[in-house]
Amino acid sequence: MMKMPVVISAFIRYGSRSHSGTEASEACLKFARRYWHTLGIKDRTGFVAIENAFAGRTMGALSVTWDEHYRTPFAPLLGPVTFVDPNSPESLYAAVSDKTAAIIAEPIRGEGGVRPLPRAFSDAIADVCRRTGTLLIADEVQTGLGRTGHPFHFQALGWEPALVSVGKALGSGVPVGAALVSEKVAQTISTGDHGTTYGGNLLATRAASFFLEELMERGLLDHVRSVGDHLERRLRSLALKHPVIVEVRGAGLMRGVELGVDATAVVDLARERGLLVNRTNEKVVRLLPPLTITAAEIDAGIDILDAVLAAVPAEVHA
Ligand SMILES: Cc1ncc(COP(=O)(O)O)c(C=O)c1O
Repeated sequence: MMKMPVVISAFIRYGSRSHSGTEASEACLKFARRYWHTLGIKDRTGFVAIENAFAGRTMGALSVTWDEHYRTPFAPLLGPVTFVDPNSPESLYAAVSDKTAAIIAEPIRGEGGVRPLPRAFSDAIADVCRRTGTLLIADEVQTGLGRTGHPFHFQALGWEPALVSVGKALGSGVPVGAALVSEKVAQTISTGDHGTTYGGNLLATRAASFFLEELMERGLLDHVRSVGDHLERRLRSLALKHPVIVEVRGAGLMRGVELGVDATAVVDLARERGLLVNRTNEKVVRLLPPLTITAAEIDAGIDILDAVLAAVPAEVHA
């Protein structure tokens, strides 16, 4: 376990390094169980996860991933896991018991359609963790490290997670992930509990430190906030122009455009015209541009999306 080189949150002091987001999730799940085990509470092993969540494709991470398409072929997975409906804070209170090791949640579900957690539900997560001691794992693999205009998106929600998983942006293309660990959990973990041969290798950690310095000390975070606002304004005007757009969601440079139709045709046509976006949750066009994108590049991309949306409904219904 290493102390963080750049302080990006007062809650997080230590990290365990890996190569991917799924390994980061995996480590967080392990450390949550390890915490209760060290405290001598051996039956506090369950997890509560959120409908439409995605945490990765290794066995533990898959177990707290909602989509059955990913999970079913590999059953039986890790258990017990209870999935709760984020529109129902009551279902969260009902699901958490003295057998729950941790709640794992993405502040904005990315793969699940760029869906922010409803405020009442995210407040309920903080409340239930405070009242029961249940650990909170914030899955920030997609939302974290500047993507939404915050170092971590949990900061916008007032969460105090015990564990945080990060990946994707951390290496800016070099494969690296990390499980970030609060002091109280770090004290319950021993050397050898977790590790991997090339975790924390020189190339990956150098890339990660460079990225963190760019983000926190050389203006990248401010840049994301500024171009993220620009992207939001452009998407909102697009929604006023195209009735096929049902909703625009997200924050910073993580945006979802939900359509009234399947998004495949829009994504395919956009790619043909030079704009890379992807389809998630069937009807959602997801935009996750590089954090270094400029306002002019956003304008060029939105112009392509505008033209594609004008062309697509007719084709989809043909
Ligand atoms: C929220 C979230 N968690 C975990 C993962 C898994 O990360 P990786 O693909 O690096 O294993 C992803 C990947 O998309 C993700 O979006």
